[in-house]
This record gives sequence, C-alpha cells and structure tokens, in this order.
Amino acid sequence: MDSKIFCLSFLAVLLINGSRGANILAVFSFPAPSHLIVEISMAKVLAEHGHNVTVITSLKPHVTHKNLNLIYIPLTEEQRKAHEESIANMTERDNSNIITSMFHMRKEIFVVNQINCDIMKNPRVKDLYKNKHNKFDLVMIGYCFNSFQIGIAQKLRVPVVLATSMFPSGVFNPMLGNTHSQAYVPAMFLSVEKGRAMSFGQRLINYITINMVEIITYLIDKDNKKYYEEVYGNDLSMPKYEDLNKNVSLVLFNSHGLSEGPIRPNFPGVIEVGGIQIKETPDPLPKPILDFLQNATDGAILLSLGSHLKGAYLKPDTVQKMFNVLSKLKQKVIWKWENLDKIPGKSDNILYSKWLPQDDILAHPKIKLFINHAGRGGITESQFHGKPMLSLPVFGDQPANADKMVKDGFGLSMSLLTLEEKPFHDNIKEVLENPQYTEKVKAFSQLFRDRPLTARQSVLYWIEYVLRHHGAAHLQSPLVHMSFIAANNLDIYALLICLIVVCLLIVKHIIRYTGKSNSSTYVKNPKKVKTI
Ligand SMILES: *[C@@H]1O[C@H](CO)[C@@H](O)[C@H](O)[C@H]1NC(C)=O
Ligand SMILES: *[C@@H]1O[C@H](CO)[C@@H](O)[C@H](O)[C@H]1NC(C)=O
Ligand SMILES: *[C@@H]1O[C@H](CO)[C@@H](O)[C@H](O)[C@H]1NC(C)=O
Ligand SMILES: *[C@@H]1O[C@H](CO)[C@@H](O)[C@H](O)[C@H]1NC(C)=O
Repeated sequence: MDSKIFCLSFLAVLLINGSRGANILAVFSFPAPSHLIVEISMAKVLAEHGHNVTVITSLKPHVTHKNLNLIYIPLTEEQRKAHEESIANMTERDNSNIITSMFHMRKEIFVVNQINCDIMKNPRVKDLYKNKHNKFDLVMIGYCFNSFQIGIAQKLRVPVVLATSMFPSGVFNPMLGNTHSQAYVPAMFLSVEKGRAMSFGQRLINYITINMVEIITYLIDKDNKKYYEEVYGNDLSMPKYEDLNKNVSLVLFNSHGLSEGPIRPNFPGVIEVGGIQIKETPDPLPKPILDFLQNATDGAILLSLGSHLKGAYLKPDTVQKMFNVLSKLKQKVIWKWENLDKIPGKSDNILYSKWLPQDDILAHPKIKLFINHAGRGGITESQFHGKPMLSLPVFGDQPANADKMVKDGFGLSMSLLTLEEKPFHDNIKEVLENPQYTEKVKAFSQLFRDRPLTARQSVLYWIEYVLRHHGAAHLQSPLVHMSFIAANNLDIYALLICLIVVCLLIVKHIIRYTGKSNSSTYVKNPKKVKTI
C-alpha cells in the first residue's frame, strides 16, 4: 500500500516536473555587473529548481548555487583597459543628444563584442560542443546586441532563449516579429508620460529616433556578422548569420509593461520578468549597516552611482560638492564608494562601503531616498520597495530612464556632469519633504508586484515550457520569416495601384469614346444626315 502511494506520488512528481534536471548552458559574457545581475538571477531560479546550469561569464558573479557551474573567463588586462576607456569616453561627452549618444553606444558595443568574440573562441567554451560527453537541452544568451553568440545554440542543436536586462523594443523585432507601432509606442531612449498620446512633435522625434535606432542596429549587426565569421566562419554546418535571430524561442525581458508602460502590442514570445533580481523577501543586513541604520532617527539616504560608473570617473570637485551637501544633512547617508583609502571626506552621518546589498538596504524602512545614476536595475529596485529617488544620469540609457522616472512622479533628476551644491541640496530636500513622490512610488510598487506569476515563477514556467516542447517555434510570429515587401504588404499596395491605374485608363477611354460618340450624335450627325 505504502509503496503504491509512493509510486503514484513519484509519478505525479514526474508528471508535474516533466523537465526536471535539464542541462542548460547560459552565455552571460557581457562585462557589465548591471546586466549580469539580472541574467544570473534568472539562471539561479533554474538552479534552485534542480536544473544544472553552466554559466559563461567574464565577471565574477555575486550569486552562487551548487547547481550553477561557472565558466569564468576574466577579461585580459588589454580588454579591461579598452572597455574602461570606452566607458570613460562615453562619460566625458555630453550625452543629452540621443543620436550622438547612440553612435557612442555603437563603439562601446563594438568593444564589448570583441570581448564576447574572444570568449567564444576560448578552448573551454569550444569544448562545450566539441566534447561529445557534454549534453545540453537549452541555451540562454544574455542579450545586448550580440546575436552572433546565438551560434553556440546551433552548434549544440538545441532551442535558444534570450535573457536581457533591456525592455521590449524594435531591437527585438527580428527575433519576435513584433510589429512597429511608431505612432504610439515611444522608442528606446525616449520617454513620454504614461497613457498619454504623443503630440505631433513627439511623434516626429519618435519616428526619427526609431529609424536612427534601426540604422545603428543595422551597423551593429554588420559588426556582429564579422564576429560570427571570426568564430564559426569555416564551419559549413552553421546557418547563415541572418538566420540566427529567426531561431529564438522566447525573450525574457527585465520589464513589466502593465505597470511601467508603455502599453504596446507584444507577441507571445515576449515574457516580462521585470524585477527578477529583487528578492521576494530581503536578506538580513550586514551588522555595520544595520547598526548604522538603527541610529538613523531622521531617516537615511542610500547613494550609489552603480558599478559600471566607478567613483574614479567622477570629477573630484563634483565629489567634493556632493560631500559638502550630504555631510550637512541630518539624515544618515550610506555611500557606495570603491576606493576606501581615498574617501570624499569624513563625517559622522556618512558610511562608505565598497559593495552594498542594495536591494536589501532599499527594503529597510529607514531609507527615505535613493540617490542613483538611473541604471535600470537600481530604479527597478527602488520602485519595487516604494522608495523615491534623485537620479544623476550620465550616459547610455540613463538620461531616458531618469526622464521616465521623473515623468512617473517618483522623484527628480539632474545631470551629474553639471552638478552644483545648491540645486543638489534643494532637490534632496524637495524629495525628502514633499510626500507626493513617496505616495506615487508606493502606489506603483503595489501595481508592479501584482501579477499572475511572480517574476521567478515566470522564468521557471517558460524555460520549462521550452524544454517540454523542444523549442517554441509555434509561438513565433510569421513576420520573422517574411520579407520587407511582404511584411509591409507593399506587393498588395502595388497591385491596388496597378488596378486603380488600369481602372482610370479604362474610364478615360470610355469617357473619350462616349465623348466622341456623343459629339458625333450632336456634331457629326448632321454630316451623316447630309451624306445619307
Ligand atoms: C552539469 O553540467 C556540467 C557541465 O557544465 C557537467 O560536467 C555535469 O556532469 C552536469 N551535471 C549533471 C548532474 O548532469
Ligand atoms: C576614446 O577617445 C580617444 C580620444 O578621443 C580615442 O583616441 C579612443 O579611440 C577612444 N576609445 C574608445 C574605445 O572609443
Ligand atoms: C533552429 O534550431 C533548431 C534546433 O532547435 C535547428 O534544428 C534548426 O536548424 C535551426 N534553424 C535555423 C534556421 O538555424
Ligand atoms: C549609534 O548611536 C550610539 C549613541 O549615539 C553610538 O554610541 C553608536 O556608536 C552609534 N552606532 C553607529 C553604528 O553609528
């Protein structure tokens, strides 16, 4: 009897977990901690549910698990220099102009893809498909303009899922066949007030930006093709570069359109798992931070300018101005600062720390304000915990993220490059003392958390879905496989124009003919009468 029940429950477990214990390869080699944290949080969910996940990274992740096997290929000194230089170049420039900042972004992507390319050529990575003992069921690619890396899934002949810290946009149309909706969906880097129709001017800018992004994406794609040929060039079994994007089962996005907007049409391959990097229940804080916060009778401020933008890129006098303002506040300040030997200045209300459990700190009730660089991760965490913000954006998507955050009413934003003491102080005071920012962000937090499946459940469900069905080609929009002419019905319009032209010609002839015959009745008839 007992064994029968055991067998039945065992069967039930098997049925429920039909795809238990898959071998998954995750290529998360983009050397930015903000991307890695989102991507590896997805991998961790899978590891926690019994899947064996092998992760290729170029940075050491903070997340670990016994089912996460790391293939860690650190940057060479040369790569690290090139990467830091390209980021420093982006930081120094004025990035308020979307178009020029996109061209700088192409340079940065080029440098990063050179690193990705070297990683794909690394013997440890090549061994994954050369060694016949390795068996993989699925490949995840951490996506940021690096389609050539999808090649490894073709090598292993398994389905591929993209995991990205980006949100749905035209950049993903080649994989998902989402439609262009330029009249009402703002482009990447643009933000408009949620739920509002764009004005004529906004639509014009939107149209130009979307097409600029297409041009940059096209240029980046050409670089990608070069890297694809560099890694797999002499391999005849590989598909054409142009076909790689057509073979993606799903894309996991770090977004949640229902709460964040914009409201846009998405095909079923769009899976939104925004907030995946945020723990559903926070971990206890390290003792020094907890003690420091416990003493914060007037509340506390968290200041973190991200991991991409190291303290050293900041101009010393900007740092001095920030210190002058912060050290005079009655609130406590936790400041993420890399170089503890050279801190901006000593003050009783400031605690410097090289690395911070940002998510756990934001969850603490004493935190009243988050000063950040408008990275997507930080803004999402702040929104999840309902904390208002002051953003100091610098480059890339940061100005647009900050702009959207301000339009949503969750705080204020000012450029880090032109920071002055008085406006910095006034902005901090405004966000701390005016309750409207906190109220709005708290209301958002409720919407953001209200979902049929949590972010973690969604990742698990959809990855296992792709495993169960050996890919998800059936979810794909036919648009992915259609030519530009067919996708835009240009051939049908051409046919219609031909028909209209033919009709017009016929009408013209009829008019001419009836005109002639009419005139003949009135003008020629007398003649005819005469001859008769
Ligand atoms: C997990 O994957 C690694 C490859 O990275 C492999 O060596 C190991 O045998 C796998 N473990 C299981 C239990 O399949
Ligand atoms: C950074 O800027 C310098 C000077 O403008 C230039 O020589 C260098 O190539 C740039 N580096 C990158 C990686 O863009
Ligand atoms: C798409 O992937 C499948 C394996 O999932 C493979 O059999 C097929 O050849 C791939 N198609 C293209 C066009 O690369
Ligand atoms: C907290 O405040 C008490 C009393 O003011 C002080 O003795 C203690 O050192 C403070 N702790 C921290 C971590 O600042």
